[in-house]
Amino acid sequence: MDLPSAPCPAWLITRLKAFGGSVSFHQYMDWVLNDPDQGAYATGKLRIGVDGDFVTSPSLGGDFAQLLAVQLADWFDQLEQRNHSDQRLTLVEAGPGEGQLAIDLITALESLCPDLLPKLDLVLVEPNQGMAERQRERLALLKPSVSIHWRSFADLAAAPVVGVLLAHEVLDALPVERLVWRHNALHRQGVGFEMVNSEPYLRFIELPIPEQLKLSIEKANRSLGITIPPPNVPDGWCSEWHQDLEPWLKQAASALQMGPMLVIDYALEARRYFNAARGDGTLMAYRQQMASSALLESPGCCDLTAHLCLETLQYQAEQQGWNCLGEVRQGQALLALGLAEQLYGLQKLPPTQLSDAFQRREALLRLVDPAGLGEFRWLAFEIKPISSNHAEQPKLHCKFLEEPVR
Ligand SMILES: C[S@@+](CC[C@H](N)C(=O)[O-])C[C@H]1O[C@@H](n2cnc3c(N)ncnc32)[C@H](O)[C@@H]1O
Repeated sequence: MDLPSAPCPAWLITRLKAFGGSVSFHQYMDWVLNDPDQGAYATGKLRIGVDGDFVTSPSLGGDFAQLLAVQLADWFDQLEQRNHSDQRLTLVEAGPGEGQLAIDLITALESLCPDLLPKLDLVLVEPNQGMAERQRERLALLKPSVSIHWRSFADLAAAPVVGVLLAHEVLDALPVERLVWRHNALHRQGVGFEMVNSEPYLRFIELPIPEQLKLSIEKANRSLGITIPPPNVPDGWCSEWHQDLEPWLKQAASALQMGPMLVIDYALEARRYFNAARGDGTLMAYRQQMASSALLESPGCCDLTAHLCLETLQYQAEQQGWNCLGEVRQGQALLALGLAEQLYGLQKLPPTQLSDAFQRREALLRLVDPAGLGEFRWLAFEIKPISSNHAEQPKLHCKFLEEPVR
């Protein structure tokens, strides 16, 4: 057992006691992010942006959305050509955070392809009420130009749409299992508490791995040719397992009749993810622009986020009804969508807009910085055709996967 690590708030003591004194890390992460009364997202405590707890690409300014809109416009165009009908098109955004990306995308699409807007619906999938409330406030500004709805994946499954599903930095917020190699065996990490000087402290504990978790790891090991843990890991080696990814991908697949899904997130190849040298996994806590590996600090007040494993995501997506269209790093994707031209265009702004130009230049460079957001992965998937006519159709083309024009 590890040493006690962080004070445990009263609400969590009550929860842990109700569960026999300890829970899996997965359950802990779900509580501290998504519990309706205490979770950092569910209560809306977390704020995204330069003045908030952490930044994401869309929170750095509208240029990210302007470039992404080039890809979305092209996909909507391909879907319209395929459809040969007046069927409405939908942009589904899962996990919209502050709602800024949705606003900026609609604004960008409005100038890029004004004819699309009257046919377009915006659907936001946000399970956390605290976040949904802030999205409603911010998106109220957009009401006239496009119809906006908040829906669950279950609602969408009842009436699947033709359109594009966007998941920007959402899958990294799904609760994960943590696996620990201890005394030559793999364990499930758990969280418990103990009293130190009459004060409750949280601590990591190790639990046996339940059969279902073992089976899902073994299945991926066999199918992907990976080994978890990899050979020669030291005692205490730890990594993450996205137990909720497959059900999420299944729900997402049931939302679309036809169309692509774009996942943009932190991700690593399996050989880098499940690596003997990566002994603490990828999980990080974020609060007030500080990144920390103290995962049990301030429960319910921090973001917790884990990288995705590229091959596992692609494999599970294929299993759940998606065809993989390809993936690249964000830097390359944005260059293919016109980032260099966007940068060049800033030079033409009048001197009165100099400070704005500098700010946008800074943000654009941050988006492609190989040591930062440029390392994000863009992964495109397309829903597998159900009917035999659709099987004849060529795959959707992805502009962002093209070589950038020189
Ligand atoms: C890291 S934030 C990203 C916000 C936004 N996409 C951005 O990039 O600025 C994660 C968002 O996903 C939401 N979320 C968490 N679990 C989710 C799930 N299972 N399905 C959809 N959204 C989820 C959170 O409430 C939050 O709005």
